[in-house]
Amino acid sequence: MPKILDYDHLEFFVGNAKQAAYYYRMAFGFRLTAVAGLETGVRDRASYLLEQGTIRFVLTTPLGPEHPAADHHKLHGDGVRSVALLVDDVPGMYRQTTANGAKGIQEPTELTGPDGSVQIASVATYGDTIHTFIDRSKYTGIFLPGYQPVEKDTLSRPANLQLVDHVVGNVEWHSMEKWVEYYERVFGFHKFWSVDDKQLYTEYSALRSTVVADPTERVKFPINEPAKAKRKSQIEEYVDYYRSAGVQHVAMHTENIIETVTKLRENGVEFLRIPSSYYETLEQRVGKIDEDVKTLARLGVLVDRDEYGYLLQLFTKPVEDRPTLFLEVIQRKGGRSFGLGNFKALFEAIERDQAARGNLTE
Ligand code: FE2
Repeated sequence: MPKILDYDHLEFFVGNAKQAAYYYRMAFGFRLTAVAGLETGVRDRASYLLEQGTIRFVLTTPLGPEHPAADHHKLHGDGVRSVALLVDDVPGMYRQTTANGAKGIQEPTELTGPDGSVQIASVATYGDTIHTFIDRSKYTGIFLPGYQPVEKDTLSRPANLQLVDHVVGNVEWHSMEKWVEYYERVFGFHKFWSVDDKQLYTEYSALRSTVVADPTERVKFPINEPAKAKRKSQIEEYVDYYRSAGVQHVAMHTENIIETVTKLRENGVEFLRIPSSYYETLEQRVGKIDEDVKTLARLGVLVDRDEYGYLLQLFTKPVEDRPTLFLEVIQRKGGRSFGLGNFKALFEAIERDQAARGNLTE
């Protein structure tokens, strides 16, 4: 049985990877470590590999309308094309997932270069998003053949983000169950956590969410769908602007959220604004925590507790002009859930921005 070992990278299709790379380096603290493009013998696209901790983002832009990233970008704007997974057996994973009903996108292929070879394949998931499987156990070079290392990134302003915690998909009305079942059937994932619209609602909008995880629970994919309420759900706003299901947010873990968020704010990252009233009842709700509540309030960090411990988290505003993808910073101090106690404060913050965009409609 082939196994998923970890997240490998997230590949974004963007309109201008050179400029987007600058943003993720200056604002989010990623290091530019490798590039692929005309100078490295790649004729149809430019890709920038950005790294921080074990997190890898690849920003890809097409060099002409023939490249599939061009159509993708026209329809979706900037967004995540591939949630790539490190596996121990690429052909086995491709065979198993396609036999279980996944649509194949790229058959198992060996990419070869002077530093060895990498096995790669991909299958479709929600919307135009794909999962790429990668095995680089026979490769000693940087990232993938075709990439050249960048010696030193003098622009990067590191924020000590360490690893991908979870990657969230927004799907269309009434299709969450279908996609949960897809991950169970195709990948052998199981349900890890879920909330329904009786728990997840505000005065105006509602959603349902189920988290699926691989057998080791290293890889976790929450799947959200809109639910019926007075006004348009933020999930529906996303789907309207992304023009399909897609990745809503990527959560990145830090071991010190206060230091990380202080740095990100200095770098100019914009976070959702949390009302000060949230902090007045915080300790009543979550009990004693190690952090100073005034500091958390100043930084806008949210806290939630579950039976295992607690977690601290906060969310950026969308990182492109369409109100689609955003990023999350999370620190887990034992807490294994997804901040149910914060959803209401969070959604109200999102709704204020949604109303400002003229999209909190009936
Ligand atoms: Fe999240």
